[in-house]
Amino acid sequence: MRVVIEPTAKAVSRNAAGRLAALVRSRPDCVLGLATGQTMVEVYRELVRRHREDGLSLGGVKTFNLDEYVGVAPEDPRSFHHFMLRHLVAPTDLRPEAAHVPDGHASDLFAEAERYEGAIAEAGGLDLQLLGLGRNGHLGFNEPGSSLKSLTRVKALTRETLEANREDLGAEQHAPPSPNAAITMGLGTILSARACILLALGEAKADAVVAMIEGPVTARLPASALQMHRDVVVLLDEPAASKLANREYYLRAEELQRQLEGG
Ligand code: GLP
Repeated sequence: MRVVIEPTAKAVSRNAAGRLAALVRSRPDCVLGLATGQTMVEVYRELVRRHREDGLSLGGVKTFNLDEYVGVAPEDPRSFHHFMLRHLVAPTDLRPEAAHVPDGHASDLFAEAERYEGAIAEAGGLDLQLLGLGRNGHLGFNEPGSSLKSLTRVKALTRETLEANREDLGAEQHAPPSPNAAITMGLGTILSARACILLALGEAKADAVVAMIEGPVTARLPASALQMHRDVVVLLDEPAASKLANREYYLRAEELQRQLEGG
């Protein structure tokens, strides 16, 4: 894992957007795995800025989102479909038909999960998967206990996740009923991506960050599965990195890495 500690949340978002933009410029038809959540808002804002000001085009890109709530229609503002529409699809030239999100409203959710996994494979697999981190260490909606080889499937949400996300839903002032399950890419799906970038911001994520990077690989902390991946960049702000035992080492290692890369 390449652990990068940035001085501010803004610098984390810029770093992530820069990496995504570099991939898109070098491979305009790349396949991106995308994520939702507050952490991603600034990343997409920065991509939109690069689209408007620097001519970055997402017109040839295909995207696959990690997850979607079950029982929430795509046009519902609480849905991850709608989040992507607001934050990335509408303000850029990303083609709506190339921006895939699992259908949490499908009549056969199990068939939908299988179809989604197949669609990723058919697109040639994910070149780069963007990830946030749940406070309980989840990736997508792979809650603690998820099989490390799981594929896209329906997953019940933990009370903790429902609570954390209810705050978000409440902030947007949308009415219940709140969903209690999701369709999510599995940990196996995520680990099959050719590269991953994970972002974590704020002190509320600090414990999960320590467990993910410095703890054992365990299904109890799904993000620890990333230790098994050979190309992962973890981007942290100072509060999210504040509990890492080897914080000083990561800072020095990154400085050296940048020198070696000539930057
Ligand atoms: C949700 C998403 C995750 C995301 C997590 C953190 O549960 N399914 O993919 O990483 O929230 O969200 P936030 O960035 O809002 O903290």
